[in-house]
Amino acid sequence: MSAAFRAPKGTFDLLPPESELWLHVREVMAAPLRRAGYGYVETPVFEETALFERGVGESTDVVTKEMYSFVTRGDDHVTLRPEGTAGVVRATVQHRLHAGQLPVKLWYAGSFFRYERPQAGRYRHFSQVGAEALGVDDPALDAEIVSLAVHAYADLGLRQVQLMLNSLGDAVCRPVYREQLQAFLRALDLDEETRRRVEINPLRVLDDKRPEVQAQVSGAPVVGEFLCDACRDHYDAVRRHLGDLGVQWVEAPRLVRGLDYYTRTTFEFTHDGLGAQSAVGGGGRYDGLSEDVGGPPMPGVGWALGVDRTVLAMRAEGVRWAAASRCDVFAVPLGDEAKSRLLVLVDDLRRQGVAADLAFGDRGLKGAMKAADRSGARLALVVGDRDLEAGAAQLKDLVTGDQVQVPLDAIVTTIKERLT
Ligand code: HAM
Repeated sequence: MSAAFRAPKGTFDLLPPESELWLHVREVMAAPLRRAGYGYVETPVFEETALFERGVGESTDVVTKEMYSFVTRGDDHVTLRPEGTAGVVRATVQHRLHAGQLPVKLWYAGSFFRYERPQAGRYRHFSQVGAEALGVDDPALDAEIVSLAVHAYADLGLRQVQLMLNSLGDAVCRPVYREQLQAFLRALDLDEETRRRVEINPLRVLDDKRPEVQAQVSGAPVVGEFLCDACRDHYDAVRRHLGDLGVQWVEAPRLVRGLDYYTRTTFEFTHDGLGAQSAVGGGGRYDGLSEDVGGPPMPGVGWALGVDRTVLAMRAEGVRWAAASRCDVFAVPLGDEAKSRLLVLVDDLRRQGVAADLAFGDRGLKGAMKAADRSGARLALVVGDRDLEAGAAQLKDLVTGDQVQVPLDAIVTTIKERLT
């Protein structure tokens, strides 16, 4: 016999009952977006490889080391999406959504793929809920979208999420900063690859996690000192709006993020109960991305929240949440005729909105009652052949242990009464 298959490295299976928590997190993250007029968008899980190369940036770790890229049988170069923004911008341009009402507000949820070194909170297949607002460069929109994420975390019961905020400047002031940063970095004692990176993408060097690099870059110039007037005004306005909205943040002058498309406002949500992978979400403005991927000039701002890491944060904080009951009524038929009758009755209950299940397989009364207990149901409905003759069923309250006989034709109403 060959060895049984296992889920690939860096991935995990979501199984009940824990899987309910992932659904819950996605729903709670999406709720504030839907209330704020964001429409649901679904784009393909794979896109042309060049979209990510040009959108996310050719010198980022995501593009150079972490993409699941392959050539199809039709000779197409495609990549499993490592993030959602490039695909959403591509779809907006392709369908000319920006020709309609602005901003175009979109949200999404789904699977993303990065070939990273797996560790706690870092997976090769992970889940995000994301939001993008396109076509308008208004600092109030930056503030709105940030506050929607703040609401989502609060609604999930999280108390220890911190917002780290920075501005990365734009096409006017970033090049000036870039040159200054390069001059600083060239004077450091760095390895060959990092030196190359200084020339191609010096901001990435600031994000290098190695302690020997961190120690050297701690005195590097920060982008905030180089912001042009327009970027400074924009950032001031974002902060003023955030203050009005009651959002708290920490200034993070060294926050650069791992994707290249960011301009101006950038932010990350961190949680200190997670160890090294502390970012539970992140995002920012990306005013040049549309043009980078062949679209018209179209500013944008957005974020993605990591569902898996948010679940870890909830566990770290010991957040309690109420799972919707999987089963309210568990039916236990004793004999074939009772089973036929209860199968229909359970179907009827479900159609009337009651979560109901049935003991399948012939397990006998003891085994079936054990299944009823395990199901978490409040009520067990037991019907034997003698009950059928009498036109009755035994309704047992699994919490109190009380049992009453109920006429079969009144069973649905009785159950609904008992459950309210
Ligand atoms: P990101 O910071 O790369 O941004 O990812 C957002 C969040 O996804 C992270 O904060 C983290 O919680 C989660 N995440 C990322 N990689 C992994 C992983 N390997 N395992 C588990 N969780 C992970 C983006 O993806 C941008 N598209 C966000 C954005 C939208 N910016 C503008 N609009």
